[in-house]
Amino acid sequence: MTSPTHSPASQPAQSKRRLFVTTALPYANGAFHIGHMMEYIQADIWVRLQRMLGHEVHFVCADDAHGAPIMIAAEKAGQTPQEFVAAIAAGRRAYLDGFLIRFDNWHSTDAPENHQLAQDIYRALRKAGLIYARTIEQFYDPVKGMFLPDRYIKGHCPKCDAADQYGDSCEVCGAVYGPTELRQPYSVLSGATPELRSSEHHFFQLSSPRCAEFLRGWTQGSTGHGAPRLQPEVLNKVREWFAVDANGHGGLADWDISRDAPYFGIEIPDAPGKYFYVWLDAPIGYLASLKNHFDKGQAAAHWHEASRTRQSYEEFIADPAVEQVHFIGKDIVYFHTLFWPAMLEFSGRKTPSQINVHGHVTVGGEKMSKSRGTGISPLRYLELKLDAEWLRYYLAAKLSARVDDLDFGADDFVARVNSDLIGKYVNIASRASRFITQSFDGRLRYLGATDELRQQAQALAHDTLAALDAREYARALREIMAHADRINTAFDAAQPWVLAKDESQRAQLQDVCSRALAGFWTLSVLLAPVLPATASRVARELFGLDRDFLWSDCDVLPERVAPYRHLMQRVDPKVVEQLLQPPEPAAPAAATAAKPAPQPPSSIGIDDFARIELRIARIHDAQAVEGSRKLLRLSLDLGERDAQGMPRLRNVFSGIASAYDPASLVGKLTVVVANLAPRKMKFGLSEGMVLAASGDDDAGGIFLLSPDSGARPGMRVS
Ligand code: MSP
Ligand code: ZN
Repeated sequence: MTSPTHSPASQPAQSKRRLFVTTALPYANGAFHIGHMMEYIQADIWVRLQRMLGHEVHFVCADDAHGAPIMIAAEKAGQTPQEFVAAIAAGRRAYLDGFLIRFDNWHSTDAPENHQLAQDIYRALRKAGLIYARTIEQFYDPVKGMFLPDRYIKGHCPKCDAADQYGDSCEVCGAVYGPTELRQPYSVLSGATPELRSSEHHFFQLSSPRCAEFLRGWTQGSTGHGAPRLQPEVLNKVREWFAVDANGHGGLADWDISRDAPYFGIEIPDAPGKYFYVWLDAPIGYLASLKNHFDKGQAAAHWHEASRTRQSYEEFIADPAVEQVHFIGKDIVYFHTLFWPAMLEFSGRKTPSQINVHGHVTVGGEKMSKSRGTGISPLRYLELKLDAEWLRYYLAAKLSARVDDLDFGADDFVARVNSDLIGKYVNIASRASRFITQSFDGRLRYLGATDELRQQAQALAHDTLAALDAREYARALREIMAHADRINTAFDAAQPWVLAKDESQRAQLQDVCSRALAGFWTLSVLLAPVLPATASRVARELFGLDRDFLWSDCDVLPERVAPYRHLMQRVDPKVVEQLLQPPEPAAPAAATAAKPAPQPPSSIGIDDFARIELRIARIHDAQAVEGSRKLLRLSLDLGERDAQGMPRLRNVFSGIASAYDPASLVGKLTVVVANLAPRKMKFGLSEGMVLAASGDDDAGGIFLLSPDSGARPGMRVS
């Protein structure tokens, strides 16, 4: 390795940044879709870049656990909300690891840190005089015994009389109204006619001149590094929200931050039966996850020589140099640019440095919809053995710093990956390294001056860094691929295969291949934030480094290369087609059951029932089934032993893949029909059937049965 020439070109002199980076906290009521993955990939690329530059980064996320929808979903699933969100949380890792997304911590908004922080922040806001209580009238479901959120009330539109419209707007005529204006309203939960009841709610006074003044300044600010705090189009939107017309109407409205019991959330201090609205405690979850990360001592891994003392969360977050950067989607801008900074400011805390907003992912030009079967399952992508780095590259190649939506197109995906990554990038290494390892024992040597080679690399690194840091990923990748084109063109023009036949041209051949490989080295460093696994293999296997690339490696010319080992596959368009096929319609849990369900006989005797042997089983393992969208392969422990006295597990296929992540099932108890005749299926033998509930309407879902705690595998159910 030649020693790096420290050049300001590839890496502007910059002091070490201290960064606290988050992505939005996903609701803990469903699996990730490709939109979530896009957000994580966008943030992960940015974080990896900062780490390669030697900056200190703490990158955290958490499940957003609270709120009425999750409480209701848990109830439907026969679980406590805590159990319900724990099962969702257990499924997260497969996605994050699968797509090489490296959060430092993943936590939950229901964790103790968040309860504490939310209550602290509330008390501080109250002390600052920004909280007040007021009685409001709201619909109440007398059957469920709870106040109804707007989306749980339906009725006839007050404007056009269309039936079955939600409590906030009409999908037929577009009218916007309040839930109490609906005609013939009914509760979506019970069907009952809701009653108007009054209740005292707590409000955050966003309309106060103090808030408006602070927010006007904050929204127009910039980061310590000269970047605007908000993108121009986001700032415009926020200005509209601020705007007050000639009659004094408009402007920021106060925010209702309380909900009545029953509610899955955090209790409001000194207000029995009142809980924080989920959106109050959700962003505080960013801080809770960071605190949990520090308290666990994980943050120690990121200390650099400079900070020798052990820092606490409190010290870190109090450091004015720390930049707080949030990545979010365009649908949650209001919460992050108004409520969240105001809550932080008036509770005496650090306010966000930058809010980075992205658009939404569409698939084949359509909004994703589970019911219409559009969208791409990230887990299915991995199951089909599609390479995570292809998706990272493809999304990055379409991402800019603007709030535009981004479409996933199958043909576009295949073309992009195959032409850029395989045709332009990987191609260089496979062609040039062969000559060097065959004829020069792996040694690189450059004829004449290398100044120009270095300068080119540094100029490209400089531009790439600026683009990536500004989240202009598409621009960065265009420049990187243009450089790959130049390297390939120069290589072809020099005709190394001709030089190789002429002994007198050996030095020439070595030079041509060395330059191409030096180019490949540079490309790999620059692509490392996007393709971390490939870049790591290039650094370690091909160039023999004992570490991953750092950004400063752009200033280095490689001196040796190892024999080329296959780096990346081409995409097979057929497999991408499979990915986009609409999922098989959800089947009832029993693999053997057919739809429509047979009419049950009107009554049976107890003897009939006794013939069915129901037993408790522990799910020892659960796996997706290749080639099937609806089946999971379950390995069940019914407490049975084989002839040798060894524990025997049963193999059961169950049609629950649309409702459960395999990982979330492992360890759970369920109920099995143990004496069902074994059945040979396309994928193997099924030795039983697990029980699950399912409805026939759209919101039916599939809900696996589980016994109350204390039950053990093998117990008879009767
Ligand atoms: N729980 C809230 C966020 C609380 S943050 C304190 C939430 N959760 S969400 O699961 O609905 O969305 C999580 C993130 O995914 C949001 O940033 C959202 O914008 C983003 N996306 C949801 N659908 C998306 C696409 N189709 N495309 C890209 N991002 C999408 O909102
Ligand atoms: Zn209408």
